[in-house]
Amino acid sequence: MANKHLIQVIAITSAKGGVGKTTVAVNLSIALAKLGRRVLLFDANLGLAGVDSMLDLKPKYTLQDVLEGRKSLEEVVVSGPCGVSIVPAASGVEYMSELPLIQHAGLIQAFSSLADNIDALIIDTASGLNGTAIDFVSAANEVLIVVCDEYSSIVSASVLIRLLSVSYRVSRFRVLVNMVRGCQSGYRVYESLLRSINHIHDVSVFYAGSIPYDEQIYQSVKMRRAVQEVFPKARSAKSLSMIALKADAWPIRENSSGRLEYFCENIIKNSTGANLLAV
Ligand SMILES: Nc1ncnc2c1ncn2[C@@H]1O[C@H](COP(=O)(O)OP(=O)(O)O)[C@@H](O)[C@H]1O
Ligand SMILES: [Mg+2]
Repeated sequence: MANKHLIQVIAITSAKGGVGKTTVAVNLSIALAKLGRRVLLFDANLGLAGVDSMLDLKPKYTLQDVLEGRKSLEEVVVSGPCGVSIVPAASGVEYMSELPLIQHAGLIQAFSSLADNIDALIIDTASGLNGTAIDFVSAANEVLIVVCDEYSSIVSASVLIRLLSVSYRVSRFRVLVNMVRGCQSGYRVYESLLRSINHIHDVSVFYAGSIPYDEQIYQSVKMRRAVQEVFPKARSAKSLSMIALKADAWPIRENSSGRLEYFCENIIKNSTGANLLAV
């Protein structure tokens, strides 16, 4: 039976590593939880340094255990800061379409079973152009691209937007400018990105906001905690709260990932397509 309420699915991605995706995913999840949303943070980093290492979680089980039928998704979910639920990364799943059909069905069912208990699903992806990241990104309702104020970050973000729009029919992106220094403006970075992609048709790219470069993020990482939790008054934490407020109002399209079963079906459909394209 279809679930009754709609869920906001936001995939956080970038073409380059080290721009702050995991930082944004963790802190945006906490900021949304502080607004009263029930948040599931899905770590799609596949064994690389992801949410679990940032928050010093030592998960006993991962999505792998769900896919292989040993555990239910509820048993795998770890409780994180401010009530955020976290699905730890599975290692060794390159493309979702490589999963046997029985696991596809299991994945759809596992997520659908959680649908009544969450309002937002935040997905922290590995960098850019790898198969699974694209599978998740192209199935999400909102694609949040993290960029920094560096020429190479802007250029690679425009390449990623082009790839996702042309090959995977993603038509809407939100851009978050991270590690903004001094009096620089994140909006100017967004404008540079817009200039570099202005000839892609039927693609909307919105400004989601910016986060300053902030030593308190570095401090919180050393403590293996989230800045939103330990330094909620830090400039970065306040910016993240503002972004969460905006994200909370982003529209959810019912026929896309607003229903979790469609989200899972989209992952599988898209990833099958991705592999066909890769052949
Ligand atoms: N706004 C910021 N100010 C200062 N340091 C930051 C900021 N955002 C991220 N970092 C730091 O940059 C590093 C990379 O961030 P991370 O979130 O792991 O990036 P990604 O997931 O894109 O690889 C981490 O050490 C993180 O603490
Ligand atoms: Mg990361």
